[in-house]
Amino acid sequence: MKRVLKWIGIVVGGLLGLIILLVVGVYAVSASRLNKSYEVTAVFTLHVPHDPESIAAGEKLFAIYCESCHGANLAGDLFSDDPAFGQIYSANLTAGENGIGRSYSDEEIARAIWYGVKPDGSPTVGMPYEFHQAIHIGDMEKLIAYIRSAPPVNTDYPRPSYGPMLRVMHTTKIFPLVTVENVDTSQPPLAPISPEETLAYGQYLAAFCAACHMPDFAGNEMFGSPNITPAAIGAWTEAEFLRAMTEGVRPDGTLLNPEEMPWESFGRYTDEELRALWAYMQTVAPVAQE
Ligand code: HEC
Ligand code: HEC
Repeated sequence: MKRVLKWIGIVVGGLLGLIILLVVGVYAVSASRLNKSYEVTAVFTLHVPHDPESIAAGEKLFAIYCESCHGANLAGDLFSDDPAFGQIYSANLTAGENGIGRSYSDEEIARAIWYGVKPDGSPTVGMPYEFHQAIHIGDMEKLIAYIRSAPPVNTDYPRPSYGPMLRVMHTTKIFPLVTVENVDTSQPPLAPISPEETLAYGQYLAAFCAACHMPDFAGNEMFGSPNITPAAIGAWTEAEFLRAMTEGVRPDGTLLNPEEMPWESFGRYTDEELRALWAYMQTVAPVAQE
């Protein structure tokens, strides 16, 4: 009996030791990557406009791409408050107290958005990256024009704390959280592209859709996003696509959940833009439906 107990003790003790080692390892690896300093070598200069038209164009971009996380007042918000993931706030972008608009230059704001690197070299955590690097330089200038025009809001968010689940996902790269690890910091920003270049402009807009629907547009079960290649929606008409994108109604009359598929903000796209997007979506390689 004593022997059995001793063996159980050894096994349980060994397991506990292993778990402790794993936890220490995950924390050490994630901490070293989360606290690393990064450098952006891409060189660019911005010419941020201040006319009302550019600011309005920036407001539209912000509503589509940023508002869901940074709030309509640009002051940031609680992004994650979960024991597994940690407590993380998105940044206050205004010029109020603790807002980055107070101290960052235009180029420093752009560097944080395009490359995920703050002026002190630390990485942003939890900022999406796939489509941010796909924002062309003209749109970035308008976005910053809008950020600069925002009334200052004072905030006092606590420093982020990262939970065990987030650290495991980060360490194993199951889910990319540190933007800069996934972008090429020597890649210069994209040149402006005009809405008239239909297919190319559609491809430009589709970079945002790829963030949820994946780069091949075949969807992702973890995000609950469906296949939107021609194999899935190729039989839709242009009018049906526009209706789904602006009213959230599929051709069969069923509704798209605006909490998951952000069609409400897509209503901000012009019909010309949505037609360009549809033209491009018809050219992507079909991926068979599962
Ligand atoms: C999915 C949520 C999400 C979206 C969408 C998002 N952000 Fe963020 N953003 C965050 C979080 C979370 C942080 C805080 C990251 C940190 O401090 O490490 C952040 C940080 C930032 C920072 C850096 C702040 C700093 O301290 O240096 C800037 C600038 C920024 N966001 C601008 C934008 C803009 C502009 C857009 C739209 C093009 C955008 N973000 C879209 C979540 C988001
Ligand atoms: C934040 C994630 C997200 C983004 C960004 C996004 N989608 Fe979606 N999309 C979803 C989800 C999730 C669904 C499923 C919604 C539902 O079933 O209610 C969906 C559904 C759809 C559907 C319906 C497909 C079907 O057969 O039912 C179409 C079409 C679509 N998205 C196109 C787009 C396009 C085009 C873009 C870019 C302009 C885009 N989506 C951007 C998450 C996203």
